[in-house]
Amino acid sequence: MASRSEASTALPEPSKGLSGIVAADTTLSFIDGEKGILKYCGYGIDDLAASSSFEEVVCLLYDRSLPSRERLAGMRARIGAARVLPSEVKQVIEQLAGRTSPMSTLRTVVSALGHYESNVPLKELPPKALRLVGQIAAAVAMIHRLREGQAPIEANPERGHAADFLHMLLGREVTETQARALDLYLILLADHGFNASTFSGRVTAGTLANLHSAITSSVGTLSGPLHGGANEKAMEMIIKVGSPDNAAEWVAERIAAKKRIMGFGHRVYKVDDPRAPHLKASSRALWEERGDTTLFETSVAIEQAVKAAKPLITNVDFYSATLLYGLDIPTDLFTPLFAMSRVAGWTAHVLEQYGDNRLIRPRARYVGKADRTYVPLKQR
Ligand SMILES: CC(C)(COP(=O)(O)OP(=O)(O)OC[C@H]1O[C@@H](n2cnc3c(N)ncnc32)[C@H](O)[C@@H]1OP(=O)(O)O)[C@@H](O)C(=O)NCCC(=O)NCCS
Repeated sequence: MASRSEASTALPEPSKGLSGIVAADTTLSFIDGEKGILKYCGYGIDDLAASSSFEEVVCLLYDRSLPSRERLAGMRARIGAARVLPSEVKQVIEQLAGRTSPMSTLRTVVSALGHYESNVPLKELPPKALRLVGQIAAAVAMIHRLREGQAPIEANPERGHAADFLHMLLGREVTETQARALDLYLILLADHGFNASTFSGRVTAGTLANLHSAITSSVGTLSGPLHGGANEKAMEMIIKVGSPDNAAEWVAERIAAKKRIMGFGHRVYKVDDPRAPHLKASSRALWEERGDTTLFETSVAIEQAVKAAKPLITNVDFYSATLLYGLDIPTDLFTPLFAMSRVAGWTAHVLEQYGDNRLIRPRARYVGKADRTYVPLKQR
């Protein structure tokens, strides 16, 4: 690291990780981390969790208002129709599924989908963006089926998005509790301010690159373990602990070793993440229906032990882990499932960016060596 005297001193101190920086206005989601409040377009997450559906939340994020019954029915039909992939893109998945991680395949799929869309003016962009909501779900299901050596299952647009996805993934009818659990998960993760993947999508859109380039950026950003991967690690931990009786000792050892416990702590929330109690209740219902609550009770015991030892909050990843696992979703699909929900927010944000665009271009403060004399190659 160069000395400060070599730095360009005219610039303000950088904020590492852009922490605390407000980069733009949005009319999509509102977060108050001190009070534990999350709202989409002014509607509290508790109300949406209790009464809404993923398709309704997509309407809300696209229109900034709750839909009429006709609008919602139209939205369900359009997302349902989009749970079908172009045959060329299916061939891409056939080449990659099982050979690379599901998130890598998904990133390539989103990029490939862009080849089968024409350029349209901004006012015609929402239907194109909406297709990605259906297509990403179809892609995740197909990636999993093919890598398991199973035939892909066609979409049934008559079903709700969550229930049809589970059918396409697992090849069986699911219960009301199971369909509702996934719907709830999709509602709760659909948008969350300028999280890293949303922000990277907006940065890409800010250059006026096309929609599929922006969402490909978002998928790539989500794939990192500091963003999308925490619930996968939380589930591995819960499985390893295995029983509520082991939780206190395991947590104590982990804290003594100064190791992080996945699913706890948050950059923005200073009280429990408002999404966590909904995921916890739904997860409990799922495991009770399965008739074996051991893993769920283990997670509760871990939460109690962590909170007794440290002032840490429970974040969205902790109970989303047991919720997804309780739906028989393998842990390496957890991040693709996150993408399947967050694509609603990503596309809404990209549309918002295009609607009032200015190139996103921060400054970097140079702290390297200054004024060096160039030495020709022959003399080095
Ligand atoms: C989310 C996260 C990255 C936020 O990090 P951050 O805002 O930069 O907070 P910090 O890393 O500065 O942590 C502050 C303190 O809390 C502790 N801490 C934070 N999260 C912790 C966790 N999950 N387990 C144990 N200790 C934790 C840190 O060790 C630190 O303690 P110290 O001051 O004694 O050193 C962090 O809480 C974390 O790594 N959590 C686990 C991963 C996870 O669940 N991610 C999903 C987030 S939705």
